[in-house]
Formats: sequence, C-alpha cells, structure tokens
Amino acid sequence: MDSSRKWWKSAVIYQIYPRSFADSNGDGIGDLKGIIAKLDYLENLGIDAIWLSPVCRSPQDDNGYDISDYQDIDPMFGTLADMEELIAEAEKHHIRIILDLVLNHSSDEHRWFQEAKKGRENPYHDYYVWRDGVEGELPNDMRAAFGGSAWEWVPELQQYYFHQFSVKQPDLNWENPRLRQEIYDMINWWIGKGIGGFRLDVIDQIAKEPDKKITNNGPRLHEYLREMSKETFQKADLVTVGEAWGATTELAKLYSNPDNSELSMVFQFEHICLDQIAGKEKWDLAPLPFLKLKEVFGRWQKELCGKGWNSLFWNNHDLPRIVSRWGNDGAYRVESAKMLAVLLHGMQGTPYIYQGEELGMTNAQYEIGEYRDIETLNLYQERLEKGYTEEEILRSIHAKGRDNARTPMQWDDSEHAGFTSGTPWLKVNPNYKEINAAGQTADASSVFSCYKKLIQLRKRYLVFIDGAFEMLCEDDGDIFAYTRTDADSELLVVCNFYGNTVECPLAERTASMELLVSSYEEAGQPGTLRPYEARMYHARRS
Ligand code: GLC
Ligand code: CA
Repeated sequence: MDSSRKWWKSAVIYQIYPRSFADSNGDGIGDLKGIIAKLDYLENLGIDAIWLSPVCRSPQDDNGYDISDYQDIDPMFGTLADMEELIAEAEKHHIRIILDLVLNHSSDEHRWFQEAKKGRENPYHDYYVWRDGVEGELPNDMRAAFGGSAWEWVPELQQYYFHQFSVKQPDLNWENPRLRQEIYDMINWWIGKGIGGFRLDVIDQIAKEPDKKITNNGPRLHEYLREMSKETFQKADLVTVGEAWGATTELAKLYSNPDNSELSMVFQFEHICLDQIAGKEKWDLAPLPFLKLKEVFGRWQKELCGKGWNSLFWNNHDLPRIVSRWGNDGAYRVESAKMLAVLLHGMQGTPYIYQGEELGMTNAQYEIGEYRDIETLNLYQERLEKGYTEEEILRSIHAKGRDNARTPMQWDDSEHAGFTSGTPWLKVNPNYKEINAAGQTADASSVFSCYKKLIQLRKRYLVFIDGAFEMLCEDDGDIFAYTRTDADSELLVVCNFYGNTVECPLAERTASMELLVSSYEEAGQPGTLRPYEARMYHARRS
C-alpha cells in the first residue's frame, strides 16, 4: 500500500450520539462510560474511528450543539477523566475518537457571551455578531433554522445579536482574530489529549455576512479554514470533516484539497436532500427522484476523484433512518437495509455508519408529546399556527424528524432495549424486541454481519479506495449499478433499489466474477434481481 496514503481513506467511521448510545448509571441518558463498555462491540464491527456528537459542557438546548465550555465535559456524560479514559481505551481497540466541534456558534451560557453582554466595550463583545437597532425593528428579515427571527434583542445593550440556530446559540464572529486564536488554542489542547480528529459542525456558515444575508459560503470561508488548518490540524495526523450543506463539487475540492491545506473531507448533503419539494423545506415531502439520485452520486464520484474526498453516508443524528426512508422497513427490512449498505460502501470516499444503522434500525412514529427535539417541537407549533392539521404535521415529523435517529440504541430485547436501567430520555422504538444487537452479532445473515463484511472488504481490496468509478445502467428506473476499477481488479455493484423483481442486465458480465457479498442468503438467478437484491462482485484483471 502506498505509504503516503492517508489512514482515513481506508477508514470506516462510526457516529455515536452519546445521549442515545448506552447509559452506564441509570439516569436514562447515555454517557462516556456507556461507550467505553461497548468498545468490544465496535471493534467486532470493525470500525476505525468514532465521531462523537458533542459531549462538551452545554445547557443542552440543542442536545450539546450549544457549547458553554469547549474544554470540559458535560456532567451528564461524565468527566474529563472519563473522556481521557475513552480515548485511551478506544486506542486499545484500534479506534480513534473524533470530536464534534461546534465553531459557528456557542451557547449563550458560554463565558464569552456572558462577558459580551456586559457592555459594548467588553473585550468579548466583538466575539459575537451585533447590530444596533430599535426594539421591535429587526435589522433584517433573516430567519433562524429552528424557527423565528435570526435576531434577538438585548435591552441592556440596545443591540440585536445574530443566531442562525436557536436564541441560545449566538453566532460567533470569525472576523475577530482574537476569537479565532482562542479557538485554535482550544483545538490544540484537544489534539494534545490524543484526539484523532474533528468533525466541524456547519462549518460553511462561519463566514457569515448578515448585512448581505450571506450565511453559508461567505467570502472569507476558505481563508479561515486554511488559517485554522495551518494553526491546528496540520500539526498532527488527524482526520477532519467539514459539515457543509452548501457545498458543490467545486467547493468540495477546496475543502478537501489533497494538498491538505483545509480539511480531509467534506460531508455534504446533495444526495440526501432529494426527497423534498424543490425550494421548500425538508418537511414538504416528495418522492425520491431515483434517476436524479444516480446523477448526483455519479457526479460526486467523478468530480472528486483525485481532487478531493467525500463522506459516504445515509444517516446521521439529523436525518431519518434510511431503511424507513428509501428502503422498506416492513417485509424487506433486512434485504433493503443490506442493499443500501452495499450500494454505498462500494463507492469512493469514507463511509460513515450512524449508530443502529448496522442493525437496520427504523424510524419511530410517536405522538407529539413523546418527541424531544427542539426543531420538531418548534416546527409543530409553527405549522399549527399556519393552519396545518395535526395529522399533516405528524406525517412530516414521522418522515423527517431528527428524533427518528435519536431513539435509544437497541442492544437487546430486555426492557428499554438494554439501553438504560432507568427511564430513557426519549422513548425506545417499540420494535426493539425484534431489532437489536444481541440478536444480530452472531447471525451471519444479519444486517450487522453485512456491514461487518463490507468493512472487511474495504480493508482487503485497494480498489475500494482508489478505483475509478463508472456508473452503469444510468437510465434504468430500478437498478443502481456501477464499477470501480484499478490496475489490479474490478468491483461491480448491482442493486435493485425497489420491491419488484426485475431482470438483471449485467448477468453476462458478472458470470466470471466472484460474488463478495449479497443482500440475500440463498443464491438467486444471475439474470434476475429479487426485491432489494444487491450484489457486489470482484474480479482480478490480468
Ligand atoms: C448541525 C448539527 C445539528 C445542529 C446544528 C446546529 O447541523 O448536525 O444537529 O442542530 O448544526 O449546531
Ligand atoms: Ca447516564
């Protein structure tokens, strides 16, 4: 293997949403000690790194994406010593820990913001984005992502502050060099603790210019990223991943330039935002345009090859469960979950597995009172006031709400799925008796075993990492198929994306290839694809 190749190019990253992963002390909330207890499970799955959603001190207005102290752990999750133990224990399991850095905004309870509010002359005042004004006359009509105006009035200062998310998440002012330096010092402190990398929350929004109504991709964005990278990330062999809702392939080549000047890779959403009404919100549901999905994946594969690096994902803590969304969480749950895994894991990029995805965990359909997410609760109120019926709103929430991803991890079939001995902060999905880790780890035909196999394959064949991508059957309305090719071998992936039995147009081509993995246990007919049947083939080139 090319020794200059970065470790994260052959890595598979597993995302943990700590409050929903494993609770060690019975308070109903997952914690660091809970994660430590599950490292054997993760090593068995075969992952290389854990992206840990925020565990820093936070009032938890947005479940930790509102940080009040970047250099301490929230007591809900444990202590700094627990974090050090997690880093050390994970290393023994060959797993690195990736910290989620929320740098676009802090909590309003952060010391900086508390100081900033004391007066316009306070040295921390300029760490945030303020505009003079008159109470009730907003600087402009910009809206916050969780509803309401993006401006909040502070009577003591006779000023508004800017917040792209909740009022408790004031935006940081990256134009201030002292703020940037404090951030770099903090990052270097974490690097010193042995952190393996960073996930950068909504990083494309840090260079906002609210007067011009610019939120993402501000003019100075890449200047800031290069500065941050030079001052911090480049000092160690880290993985860095930038969450960028507004990235195009062109921008992605800047973020993930192989010269290492910015980040390792981009985490962008073009493929995962396709099932909504164009120009509307994610809640405005539309069917998935399948040919478009292929076009988007194909374009990213082609354009980044050799020029950048992408993340491969279906899920995270903000997205509904993929098997419910684009698979089939009824009769074909297992087959469709495996199909989606095979489809994704053959591509170029770094695959991400979001906790429970490897079990085929599904969306949950709760009553409004059972949800906890600020986005969902605000949306419900907002749409009720706009005259939507409760039924319509719940349909959107059941399909797209973030709590779908946040229901507790289903470990076994005991009460609360073995997640906690207390009362879980968010109700466990009632299907845990059927879908849980204990029932899958030893079963060769499980979704878990399919993911494990895919991870092993990525380690075995270099073609997964560097192979050139070619989309096949581009205009086929049911089949997603492609090849990856390098000097030594060819990989061929063919997936029936839907629930009908269809003809497989590639039977001749695959006849002499070795079948590496499939979504069905029993061998089928080469010329036929059963519902959600996926097959991955390999051949040596001579
Ligand atoms: C990102 C996070 C999301 C959070 C938001 C604000 O999109 O993934 O969970 O609410 O940023 O920090
Ligand atoms: Ca706990």
